[in-house]
Amino acid sequence: MPVHILAIESSCDETAAAVCADGQMLSNVIASQKIHEQYGGVIPELASRAHMQQIVPVVDTAIRQAGISMEQVDAIAFTQAPGLIGALLVGAQFAKSLSLALDVPLIAVHHMQAHVLANLIEEPKPAFPFLCLTVSGGHTQIVLCKSPSQLEVLGQTIDDAAGEAFDKSAKLLGLPYPGGPLIDKYAQEGNPLAYTFPEPKIEGLDFSFSGLKTSILYFLRNAGKSNVYKESFLATEEEKERFIKENLADICASIQHRIIGILLNKLEKAARQTGITNICIAGGVSANSGLRKAISELGIKNGWHVHIPAFQYCTDNAAMIAITGYYKFLNKEFAAFDVNASARAEW
Ligand code: KG4
Ligand code: ZN
Repeated sequence: MPVHILAIESSCDETAAAVCADGQMLSNVIASQKIHEQYGGVIPELASRAHMQQIVPVVDTAIRQAGISMEQVDAIAFTQAPGLIGALLVGAQFAKSLSLALDVPLIAVHHMQAHVLANLIEEPKPAFPFLCLTVSGGHTQIVLCKSPSQLEVLGQTIDDAAGEAFDKSAKLLGLPYPGGPLIDKYAQEGNPLAYTFPEPKIEGLDFSFSGLKTSILYFLRNAGKSNVYKESFLATEEEKERFIKENLADICASIQHRIIGILLNKLEKAARQTGITNICIAGGVSANSGLRKAISELGIKNGWHVHIPAFQYCTDNAAMIAITGYYKFLNKEFAAFDVNASARAEW
């Protein structure tokens, strides 16, 4: 009989459940929370409430679509950390209750490790060791993965995450939250070399995006005439609005070009330093079409084996929790019932 893992993800604003059989995904259900759009960002309390409303139907759908019964579930995996504490608690309590009711083990999963292991969901799987550029709304990391249970962070952001750089830039352009996918969309029509934004000089394999955000802020306030701070900016509010409207595609393409450049320069450095040529990407920002294209081209140039997960496994999903749960099940890494959800977590 195959091992069936039921997985639950509720760390931010997606309520998700998935079922896998011996690591093969049978279902992957996601209910996104539209309510946050009107606030320009995720409101934690509203996220928790939406998780409570959605978790029963989402889990029910995942079981039904998998074509199994609850009695066939061998273990419950859930996102234990990191994330919004109220949101995580909903998934954790639900997983614990279900594990007690079904009398099956509980598996606690680290959300960022799961993003990396999303690369192992589909064939062909990357060979070990691989480097993974994990780029999401809350994190930006280069991870060395030697096996499903041996992961090491080689570098990470010292301020904003890559997803935040996209979302905050989009906000400055007056675009709704989450702005990453919109910048991606407009960038496809624009010239990535139309405007130049600075690349930060950060030691080692770490990243920084806060300087880029400030530079974009000044660039827009100066209506594209400069991206340095001026005591009195070179444009009026109307001129700024007009500049954005008339050049939106070029601005988006140039911002995206710089973010991708920052990410890939560090990834290239990590590959050089470690000698590793199996390269993966993960996290919501890895859905970005410009990044996917650029990393494929860089792979050809450097002789890398590049692995890019399907879109549905890049943004938050429960399939990545299920695959991580499956490997933990094989290692008998079960959680005790006093396990707590946690907003932050050691790697
Ligand atoms: O991994 P994820 O779904 O959630 C977190 O764990 O944070 O990542 C969400 C982030 C958001 O910042 C969103 O704007 C960004 O991923 N994102 C994108 C794209 N799709 C999602 N950024 C750029 N281009 C995209 N196509
Ligand atoms: Zn995530």
